[in-house]
Amino acid sequence: KGMLAWQRTAFHFQPQKNWMNDPNGPLYYKGWYHLFYQWNPDAAVWGNITWGHAVSRDLIHWLHLPLAMVPDHWYDINGVWTGSATTLPDGRIVMLYTGATEEMVQVQLLAEPADPSDPLLLRWAKSEANPILVPPPGVGLSDFRDPTTAWLNPTDSTWRITIGSKNPEHAGLALVYKTTDFVHYDLLPSLLHLVHGTGMWECVDFYPVSTTSRPGGEIGLETSVPPGPGVKHVVKVSLDDDRNDYYAIGTYDAKDDTWTPDDAAIDVGIGLRYDYGRFYASKTFYDPVGRRRVLWGWIVETDSERADILKGWAGLQSVPRTVLMDTKTGSNLLQWPVVEVENLRMRGKSFDGLAVPPGSVVPLDVGKASQLDIEAAFQVHLDSSVAGGAEGAESYNCSASAGAAGRGVLGPFGLLVLADEGLSEQTAVYFYLVKDANGKFTTFFCQDALRSSKANDLDKKVYGSLVPVLDGENLSVRILVDHSIVESFAQGGRTCITSRAYPTKAIYDSARVFLFNNATNVNITAKSLKIWEMNSAYIRPYPSSV
Ligand code: FRU
Repeated sequence: KGMLAWQRTAFHFQPQKNWMNDPNGPLYYKGWYHLFYQWNPDAAVWGNITWGHAVSRDLIHWLHLPLAMVPDHWYDINGVWTGSATTLPDGRIVMLYTGATEEMVQVQLLAEPADPSDPLLLRWAKSEANPILVPPPGVGLSDFRDPTTAWLNPTDSTWRITIGSKNPEHAGLALVYKTTDFVHYDLLPSLLHLVHGTGMWECVDFYPVSTTSRPGGEIGLETSVPPGPGVKHVVKVSLDDDRNDYYAIGTYDAKDDTWTPDDAAIDVGIGLRYDYGRFYASKTFYDPVGRRRVLWGWIVETDSERADILKGWAGLQSVPRTVLMDTKTGSNLLQWPVVEVENLRMRGKSFDGLAVPPGSVVPLDVGKASQLDIEAAFQVHLDSSVAGGAEGAESYNCSASAGAAGRGVLGPFGLLVLADEGLSEQTAVYFYLVKDANGKFTTFFCQDALRSSKANDLDKKVYGSLVPVLDGENLSVRILVDHSIVESFAQGGRTCITSRAYPTKAIYDSARVFLFNNATNVNITAKSLKIWEMNSAYIRPYPSSV
């Protein structure tokens, strides 16, 4: 099976070998979901970037297809970089993406399916008009990339796209272009948005979300749904400086194509993140069948380049997630694994009402624990706690903390996954409560990868942030475990954390799962806890005979 074969995943999307980064141009067409991705055909490190391509009926089981686009023109000879698909009202697909030219200038390119009658969209035709955009005056030749899906501006019914960049003062910004035919474009005088100090904005995403639950159960909005009552717009940027995906919720003004955040203090790039672990260069698309917006993100490796070369691959895609406005808090998005993931659930075990006293570790007998879907809800017996120590406690910071090994009055407590019997390896997914001087509780959600592996050539961290918890809510978490990745969603997806693990002992049948409570003074009950073993998703190679 090859070196380190147990690190390959069973239900996360990954190519059969070599390097993968950003998801590109996700779309739905004639019964198939399409995923393209940045891929190096030659090695497990970044370079020679082409567009890999796979199709699926259900976003979970994939069939790999031949490369969709390769660097074969002067305008993309140094790489067929990231781009987005737009489905026009007549069903036509337009693909816009970035090319790195022979001079390493970033230009925007247009491609369309060569045979629109082919549901697999095997062949792509690059436009004769390429490049359709070059960096405008004042924009750096290598600061102009990753065009978005186009949307219709309702004021003049013509298309808009936005492209990320930065200015000489290191402000991140998004340029807006107007087009009617996707060949000719006008740069608009105003920016969609700009945030000082944030640096280059890669992979900008811009889309509407519904602020109300809709009749008919519609849970996502098509990209061109205009601003108005019940609609807000999200801007997401991938910060090249710190390699994280940040978003903010705000208002799109279609008159001048500008966007304003609801709360300037948590503007895009300085406020909320999609994921507090490793999750980058993400992109959403509107799924007309599921009537939902689906998010893909690139999950980077945290092992060494040497290890990547040894194992022959690098990079995963997150499990596809539906994205919704959180109508309860009104201030954040909710991300949740697409419902199709649940079709992989096999044997499920329930452990309801388990007590987890301070300082305890409770083994959970689930058999094989390297492929799991876990849903847990905790009750925190605050009445049982000695409130004194938690009173006025200074705030908590997951990343600066000792992780699951630290001991506070009201945390950490949660689950240990990808753990070996002796707990020498473990990834801890946990909550940590802090009570302020006014008696108000703040909840942190963290994931501790410090002890995720005995190997030491790894980037190991404690990840995490705040998670909003409303009155009367239990603390809840969903965790997807898949060999070398742990993807966690707290409070229905208000705060998400993805981390990698490269266990040496907690592999295959030796992987275990535990509950733990390392708080000194609070009793925890796992009110409900359900753990399913997950089937593998059979991600199939393209038949070589075809
Ligand atoms: C983000 C990114 C994009 C670029 C692509 C190149 O990870 O740097 O900005 O288009 O990857 O592979």
